[in-house]
Amino acid sequence: MFTHSNSNNIVIAYTDNMKTMAHNAALELDSLGVDSITLNRVEMICFPSGEVKPKITENVRRKEVFLFFDFNGHPNDDIWNFLLTLDALHLAGAESITPVVPYLPYLRQDRKDEPRVPISAARLIRSIEQCASVKRLITIDMHADQLQAVFTIPVDHLPGRVVFTSWAKERFASKLDNLVAVAPDFGSAKRVRKLAADIGSDVKVAILEKERDKDGVEIHNIIGANVSGKICLINDDMIDTGGTLLKAIQALYQHDAKSVIASASHPVFSSKDGTSAYEKLIGGGAEIVVTDSLITESHDWLTVLPLHSYLAHVIFQHVTCDGSVSKLIMEGLPK
Ligand code: R5P
Repeated sequence: MFTHSNSNNIVIAYTDNMKTMAHNAALELDSLGVDSITLNRVEMICFPSGEVKPKITENVRRKEVFLFFDFNGHPNDDIWNFLLTLDALHLAGAESITPVVPYLPYLRQDRKDEPRVPISAARLIRSIEQCASVKRLITIDMHADQLQAVFTIPVDHLPGRVVFTSWAKERFASKLDNLVAVAPDFGSAKRVRKLAADIGSDVKVAILEKERDKDGVEIHNIIGANVSGKICLINDDMIDTGGTLLKAIQALYQHDAKSVIASASHPVFSSKDGTSAYEKLIGGGAEIVVTDSLITESHDWLTVLPLHSYLAHVIFQHVTCDGSVSKLIMEGLPK
């Protein structure tokens, strides 16, 4: 069993919403032989004026800090809280900070899509990097792979497909030749092809031709594998208002899919025009599978796959100094 030569130096800091994920990741690391990890709560002190002051509750001087931080539904406040937390860790003398942020907001705003607007994704990334102690970042399924190019620090851009693959292999064990992996738009095609290949060589791929305008989402066409009579597994990076998914589910059923299951890494589940994504999807006729990158309501049609083990194995590669994250991604988590 491996023991980190200096595991007393490793701290897992966490916000209250990330407590369970952080504690479970620490337990997993312990079971991998990285003992003596210190867990350290970030207390968010709120003033009557609405201002906040994040406080790191234990000493982090010269520690290697993995900061589990969440962006649950209030992205603007959360970003400010996050930047202040990085500052608090830096000023407290952390040797290095690795934010572990399964979901990062604002990443869809990665270009100027109309005149006189910001590129918010790049602005956020630059703000994170302004904290000199941030040496690396760990995140799951950013909206586009190209966002890696904005970072000047190393990023572990982890594909959510690692958790969806092991779930799907178990779930569809004897029916893989009847399974079609579905990309809900062209931007998702590459990711979904990799998911299909990881699940099994029999799994075919279909791609939906989606168009979004100010009135919502339309699916014009289904390209690739025939979905008639098949079990369709949609995979998206996020469910926001649920508009994309609902239209994708409807299109697949209109083309005689036998059943539809939808998976997405980030359950943002926001409301639009007074209807929440939950309300929208409840009658959609599809089971939905997400990760716990964000907190969700509990529903019998919604399965939540935990990320702590995946994240712990990635952290393990770093703290042991001899592991390969890409090997982990290619081979999946050890049983
Ligand atoms: C779009 O490019 C993304 O990959 C998602 O499909 C989209 O952001 C989901 O948003 P909504 O649930 O609001 O349709």
